[in-house]
Formats: sequence, C-alpha cells, structure tokens
Amino acid sequence: SSYTVAVVVGSLRKEAYSLRLSEALVKLAPDTLKLDVVTLHGLSFYNQDLEATPPADWVAFRQRIKAADAVLFVTPEYNRSIPGVLKNAIDVGSRPYGKSAFDGKPGGVISNSPGAIGGFGANHHLRQCLTFLNIAVLQQPEAYVGGIADAFDDKGELTKAPLREFMQKYIDAFAAWVAQQKK
Ligand code: FNR
Repeated sequence: SSYTVAVVVGSLRKEAYSLRLSEALVKLAPDTLKLDVVTLHGLSFYNQDLEATPPADWVAFRQRIKAADAVLFVTPEYNRSIPGVLKNAIDVGSRPYGKSAFDGKPGGVISNSPGAIGGFGANHHLRQCLTFLNIAVLQQPEAYVGGIADAFDDKGELTKAPLREFMQKYIDAFAAWVAQQKK
C-alpha cells in the first residue's frame, strides 16, 4: 500500500535549502510514499480568540495535515531552535484542543544548515513538541544535515553525492517506519 506524507518546510525563503531538500526527497522517495510539500506562506498567527471562526488558512493547513498518513519536518535552525513560522504551524495544527491534526501520526525530522552542526538544536527542540503532539518520530537514522550550501546545483538538484546517498537511506527508512506504524 502507499502513504501520503506532509513534508512541512520550516523556511519561507524562496531559495531555501530546506525547500530544495524537500523537493529532492520527493524525487528520492520510494513508490510507496506520496510526498506533499507544505510551505507555510500565508499561515496566520495562532490566536485563540479566532478559534470560534478559524481563518481559512488555518482550516486549509489542518486539513492538509489530517489528509496525510505521516508528517516529515524539514527545517533550518534559527538561534539554536526552530523558526517561528514552524512553531506557529505546529500551534495552529495542534488545535482546537482534542482535535489536533498531528495526533498519532508517524513523523520524521530533518534539520539542515550551511554550518557544521546541522541544526541539532532545532532538531531536538522540534522533537520536544512532537512528543506532546503524540507523533511517533523515526529515531534512526537521525538527520542533522550540515554544510548544505554546496549540496545543490544551479537548477536546485541535489548533486552532493554523500548527502544524496544519506537522504536516500533516510527516506527509505522513513517509508519502512511509516509502513510499520500504519499496519
Ligand atoms: C540563522 N542561521 C542559523 N544557522 C545555524 O546553523 N544555527 C542557528 O542557530 C542559526 N540561526 C539563524 C537565525 C536567523 C534568524 C537566521 C535568518 C539564520 C543561518 C541559517 O542556517 C541559514 O540562513 C539557512 O540558509 C536558513 O535555512 P533555509 O532558509 O535556507 O532553509
């Protein structure tokens, strides 16, 4: 059988490495996974006052997550944590109380950075949220992708061979994880 994966991208930047990496994963994913790359442009700030008549962008985001069998986060690191836009998306998707769009889904975390540490801080701050959201996160392999600035060619193709191989290994492991969790 095949599974839909919402790939939530933690950067709004047009040329974001996080977006390029997400698009590379679409190509590397086995046939059993259908990846839906979800960017967060236009997702308004969570405000509990609006919950009675939630904004259309919240409703659409929640539905897109709910429609997926699994959630894969691909995020940069901002100040050793996750970008505010990603935290906002988690907050929006988690509500209203008891109706979280994320609840019980298998998940994965890929952090990335041009730097050497590969977004370790963002990766683990995100995992703290995912524990509360009851997302069963793939534990191995971990994906702290450092040195990402030279990973893509002019057309945005993932050409850095070692990273390409690792991403193949990661997405194959993720596919197996999702299949195991869904059976
Ligand atoms: C950064 N950057 C960064 N990098 C890192 O490895 N650790 C960090 O804590 C931070 N902090 C940080 C804060 C802010 C506000 C910005 C704008 C940037 C650098 C970051 O990794 C780089 O800009 C990436 O290119 C951002 O990811 P995308 O947009 O390419 O996916």
